[in-house]
Amino acid sequence: PSACWEVASTSRIDCYPEPGASQESCEARGCCWKAPAHDESSPVKHQGVPMCFYPIDYPTYAVSAYNETENGFKATLQKIKTGIADRYPNVIKHLQLIASYDANERLHVKIFDPEQQRYEVPFPKLPGPAAAKAENPLYEVKMTKNPFAFKVIRKSNGQTLFDSSAGAFHFYDQYIELTSYLPSKYIYGLGQHTDRLLHPTDYSRFTFWASDVSPGLNLPLYGTQPFFMAMDGEGKSHGVLLFNSNAMDVILSPAPAITYRTIGGILDFYFFLGPLPSNVVAQYTELVGRPALPPYWSLGFHLCKYGYGSLNHTQEVMQRNIDAGIPLDVQWNDIDYMNGSKDFTINQENFAGVKQFVHALHERGMHYVIITDPGISAAEPAGSYPPFEDGLAMDIFVKNATGGILLGEVWTGGLTAFPDFTHPNATEYWTKQVSDFHQSLPFDGLWIDMNEPSNFVDGSVNGCPQSSLEDPPYLPYLVNHSPLRSRTICMTARLSAGLSYNLHNLYGLTEAMVTRDALMTVRPNKRPFIISRSTFVGQGKYSGLWSGDIHSTWEALQQSIPSILNFNMFGMPLIGADICGFNGNTTKELCQRWQEVGAFYPFARNHNSLGNMDQDPAFFGDDVAASSRKALLVRYQLLPVYYTLFYHASTRGEMVVRPLFFGFAEDRTTFEIDWQFLVGTHIMVSPVLTPDTSEIDAYFPAGRWYDFYTGREIDSEDQWVTLPAPLDTINLHIRGGGILPTQKPEQTTTATRKNPFTLVVALNDSHEAYGDLFWDDGEQLDVLEAKNYSYISFRVQMSPPALVSVVEVDNFKNMPKLDGVVVFGAGMPHSVLVNGDSWEFTVDKDTKTLKLERLKLDLLKPFRISF
Ligand code: GLC
Repeated sequence: PSACWEVASTSRIDCYPEPGASQESCEARGCCWKAPAHDESSPVKHQGVPMCFYPIDYPTYAVSAYNETENGFKATLQKIKTGIADRYPNVIKHLQLIASYDANERLHVKIFDPEQQRYEVPFPKLPGPAAAKAENPLYEVKMTKNPFAFKVIRKSNGQTLFDSSAGAFHFYDQYIELTSYLPSKYIYGLGQHTDRLLHPTDYSRFTFWASDVSPGLNLPLYGTQPFFMAMDGEGKSHGVLLFNSNAMDVILSPAPAITYRTIGGILDFYFFLGPLPSNVVAQYTELVGRPALPPYWSLGFHLCKYGYGSLNHTQEVMQRNIDAGIPLDVQWNDIDYMNGSKDFTINQENFAGVKQFVHALHERGMHYVIITDPGISAAEPAGSYPPFEDGLAMDIFVKNATGGILLGEVWTGGLTAFPDFTHPNATEYWTKQVSDFHQSLPFDGLWIDMNEPSNFVDGSVNGCPQSSLEDPPYLPYLVNHSPLRSRTICMTARLSAGLSYNLHNLYGLTEAMVTRDALMTVRPNKRPFIISRSTFVGQGKYSGLWSGDIHSTWEALQQSIPSILNFNMFGMPLIGADICGFNGNTTKELCQRWQEVGAFYPFARNHNSLGNMDQDPAFFGDDVAASSRKALLVRYQLLPVYYTLFYHASTRGEMVVRPLFFGFAEDRTTFEIDWQFLVGTHIMVSPVLTPDTSEIDAYFPAGRWYDFYTGREIDSEDQWVTLPAPLDTINLHIRGGGILPTQKPEQTTTATRKNPFTLVVALNDSHEAYGDLFWDDGEQLDVLEAKNYSYISFRVQMSPPALVSVVEVDNFKNMPKLDGVVVFGAGMPHSVLVNGDSWEFTVDKDTKTLKLERLKLDLLKPFRISF
């Protein structure tokens, strides 16, 4: 085609993504065939540039009708007759596009077959379209008629955020493709993949397919989160969700552009206009569901290992950590507590007495969490294993294509059936199993693993039938081009809500939903604690997660930070990575550094695989124990901050930990930083992520920064500061302007929660600061709905200089007193008045830190401290 020469080699969009492109097959698609100019200096990797690419204005669909509606507009799209043969079977010739202007900051664009109902994502249930058009939308939508394309434009600055005229638009039964230009190369999100936080737009491919694989660069991992955020370079941010659960490839290319290739469902786009990155996340979670408030104890430190092998060994390891003074709240057991790896059983030989052990934990104010896998053993003698028999009776197992129970193999070594968590009886079934088992083992939370679902045989023990579902005309890229059914169940398998082909990526979400219901019955009126491996959009409402079977390497330690930041953007802030690494043996130095940064993960658990050396913080001797203790004690000291952040995550969709650019959206240097991160708005963690390191270069965005441990202000005018990084301390800084509620840390959160508070105040250049505190009983279920909590905000105001509190909600009365105030950057005050009375104080002349003690103030009454 003549338009080929107009396409710059950096703007090419792949027209032949399948293997086996040739000039002939490419040109048969009406596309351009040309080797890319080989330019060594090109930032684009030569091999990533497609040889077969779309010409400009590649004809596919045209708009044949357009009408305004109550809440936006709708358009009819018609396939253009081009003489180019269909590339796949079952092209859909007429399509409907519906744009609804649901809110000023949110736009919904849906493209579907108006004649035949196609699969649409059933979970999570998203709110329907608004009845009327948003009054002052931050966006406008423009359509191009022929070929069809649509644009989303930010009104305030005319910036085009989405423009589907790139590449080509295809809509077949099993292949939908759409490419949009992007306003910048600053793209984040697109989970779950191992990558830098800032994704490269060098034809990098992200496949969305829940997979039980050992994390490798950009491979599809356990969960699917088809949401991205972009920064436009001027401090404005927006987000895009493609609400589609089918297997899909997403390509970021240098135009910059994003290409979606999904093999089912419909195109269901939501645009979130921000404009601040934090607004985008709040708008996104408002739509998909905000994260549940976790129980307070779950913010403590967790200890786990696959292969303790016995209760004795579990106890031994736990005890040596307690003896070493390591703060510890939760002991876990992996599948080795089970009898033959069968769910809802206990190995009575090695784990006899585990019930008493759990009672003893509870008496100490500690908690206990166990694993459950979805695969239910189907190989037990008749009448001996209720989890299978009940499932048969309630008919809740996933079926194969001919209606029999689909059988696979997981840890039990024999046949296993998979509960269909979309089945109307699933909640009753699962609740019965969980509650019957809870009688024998009073666990406090559930770890739901292997829920991609993972299967050790491909499809089923009987294979899978031949079908275009099993072998679709376009196969998104899985490791080694394996079929979709590899290491999971058949695509032709049937669930109550439909085909595994469509629902695969929702298995973890639906298991989390049902597990949450079960736990609410089993532990009435207590907040469920669930950690899942597989996740989908909106799952934060039901569970947290961990990042799976990562390696015990420095690289994996580095990668843990982007993964944790990403899931905070996805509205799943309760995330951690296995501290010290999972697969392979860790080393003392790696584990020491990892314990230090892991202490600041929202969910902090040390977990390790079978057969690896021990790696609990006490194992390596005094110095690792001491540095782990130190870091964890800081975490415990800061737990009121973490908890308050979780409260804001649940209610306002804020993030617990965040990339630097969330605080400094106009500072481009922050756009690439994923080796430092923020906890809330004012704490910055600058960890060591490399071996043999004694100092690090840390970036300090604009503002005043204080060393957390000493209160000393950092000279950060140059922004890049070389900091000493001794093995025993993690660098932690507080930005001026923040007020942090802290408590003197103890060995459990239960004990820590009883201690009086100290406010750590860090003044900014204008001598102001702000902070807040959410407090409740830490585990009651509906505290937010019942308003059974207290919420206090603190502010330092300038004239006259004073720290004042506002008690905004005071319904939860059982609050420790405020005993201390520490003010960083206070200068040398002449006097201090507490509620009008003069008060004793000290000032560190060197750091200008002001300290007040023994205040014994009732936090439920407003106070004023002038200095
Ligand atoms: C899976 C989990 C891992 C667990 C193991 C045994 O690999 O990801 O965390 O230890 O199964 O249950």
